[in-house]
Amino acid sequence: MSAAAPAAREAAWSELLSALRGKLAPASKLAEREALGPKTTLRVGGPARLYAEPATEADLQALLAESHARGLPVFMLGRGSNLVVPDDGVDGLVISLAHPHWQAFEPRADGRVWAGAGLRLKNLCGLAAKAGLQGFEFMEGIPATVGGALRMNAGAMGGWTFDVVDEVRLVTLAGETRAMKKAEMHVDYRHCAELGTAVALGAFLRPRAHADGEAIRRQIEAYQKKRQEAQPREPSAGCIFKNPPGTSAGRVIDECGLKGARVGGAEVSPVHANFIVNRGGATCADILALVRQVRARVKEARGIDLEPEVMLFGRNWRDVL
Ligand code: EPU
Repeated sequence: MSAAAPAAREAAWSELLSALRGKLAPASKLAEREALGPKTTLRVGGPARLYAEPATEADLQALLAESHARGLPVFMLGRGSNLVVPDDGVDGLVISLAHPHWQAFEPRADGRVWAGAGLRLKNLCGLAAKAGLQGFEFMEGIPATVGGALRMNAGAMGGWTFDVVDEVRLVTLAGETRAMKKAEMHVDYRHCAELGTAVALGAFLRPRAHADGEAIRRQIEAYQKKRQEAQPREPSAGCIFKNPPGTSAGRVIDECGLKGARVGGAEVSPVHANFIVNRGGATCADILALVRQVRARVKEARGIDLEPEVMLFGRNWRDVL
């Protein structure tokens, strides 16, 4: 939240709205107080002060530059996983690349594949299998878009997103575009430094090999089966904590006897203890209370400080933990 007084802040939002209304293409969506809960996999939380789905790169740049010029914060919404939205919403501009413009999947002559930031990983895997391109199978079950997966270097089944990245095209919060090779970027477990202050437009990915589509699909199915057995089906944000060095957060929470622990509609999943699931009607306050409870118990029993993996949208975890 900026230090601006509420009235000045409201005036800035009104100004931004009129500036954008005169600029954006008719195909771009712009809405005030859009409910965010239904756009997330956890299904909790309030509205976005302003919400946009740009239909072109120019419109995305305009959204970023106009907000930046007024000191108003911008937050990207991907597939809506890995995210907890506060009950009172987000006092910011929330941008989603849900428009079809951002869903490109284009194999290129140089062997790379251009994947738009709005393309869902599930679709990326299906299209790659169809094209006989191997190396993306581990991504199939990650509920993310390409942009969100890049932003947090999402991973599963022993692989992570940047394993298959060659180059990322991004736009800074001031609205300038550029391309960066993977080697120039600072990437780690569930972290990409450059995308903390920039928005991915998409990436050139490098398939591992050409292979028979059927063999690729069989590998995808094997991963699906493994996941279905090990992870809950109820709404969740995915794994709630990062794995501490050398162990699995799920195993540690499980060993502390916390499976099934509940606050309101939020529950530590009895299937996998690093998932907090929404059993119906959970609020963000329920989720936060359960996160605090789990952290306190794990700290007391094992001396481990669990760090959230999911983002608290528009806020800092350290302000609420
Ligand atoms: N385990 C338990 N109890 C539990 C959960 C797990 O004993 O309640 C044990 C399992 O039996 C296994 C070990 O802990 O021996 C590891 O479990 P798992 O294979 O499920 O892996 P994980 O480390 O818990 C990571 C990622 C997941 C990803 C899986 C599968 C993180 C925080 N989690 O989980 O990613 O799907 O591997 O590859 O890195 C996510 O990032 O949102 C996520 C779900």
